[in-house]
Amino acid sequence: MQGRLIVFEGVEGCGKTTQIARSQAWLLESGLLAELQSQGKVSRLVVTREPGGTELCQEIRRLLLHPTSQEILQDRTELLLYAADRAQHIAGFLKPQLAQGALVLCDRFTDSTLAYQGYGRGLDRALIDQLNQIATHGLTSDLTLWLNLEAAAGLARAKSRGMNDRIEQAALSFHQRVQQGFTEIAQDHPQRIVRIEGDRSETEVFEDIQQVLQKHLQQWYKTPTL
Ligand code: TMP
Repeated sequence: MQGRLIVFEGVEGCGKTTQIARSQAWLLESGLLAELQSQGKVSRLVVTREPGGTELCQEIRRLLLHPTSQEILQDRTELLLYAADRAQHIAGFLKPQLAQGALVLCDRFTDSTLAYQGYGRGLDRALIDQLNQIATHGLTSDLTLWLNLEAAAGLARAKSRGMNDRIEQAALSFHQRVQQGFTEIAQDHPQRIVRIEGDRSETEVFEDIQQVLQKHLQQWYKTPTL
């Protein structure tokens, strides 16, 4: 059994968390997951996120997004904390799950580090690639769904539900650089990253995601009844 890693990426308020929940519900309720399990192709469906995918990672997430200290978190410290979260998540959770044949839906992964710390904070991209390499130990996603949304539109959505974390509070120009980052990263990796237009209703966005998921599941698992 070979596990598969599906990642959802995008700026604040792009809708990825909602779309992950809808994808999970669809896989469970349609009977698709049960069928893949009964054919011995998938062990289980796992939903996880970065930062915060394990108990220790949740502590790192709190440091990153809700620090109790007023002390400024330095850009390089931020980068290293995201890398630490990823190293812990992958070695302690993701790799074992994938080795057992899990189908994993992950909220953010390495592209977020390149977009936020590279394009957003302006840290050296070669350094980030190197750190991502160390943290992932070579693990890459099988498919990344990038929900494309203008930074201002996403921030407005995030604001309407009460923006409250350290990164959401950064200037619009920071989030615009992040969005530019995702745009360039997607252009650089057309095989791995599928762009989904996020500026539509939840249902319209999900219909596109469902199509992409169906196509990839068919490719990976060769299930004729999908
Ligand atoms: P979210 O899980 O609610 O999307 O919040 C995670 C925040 O952390 C979000 O603002 C994006 C940011 N982030 C980075 O800056 N770098 C990273 O490598 C990751 C995974 C997330």
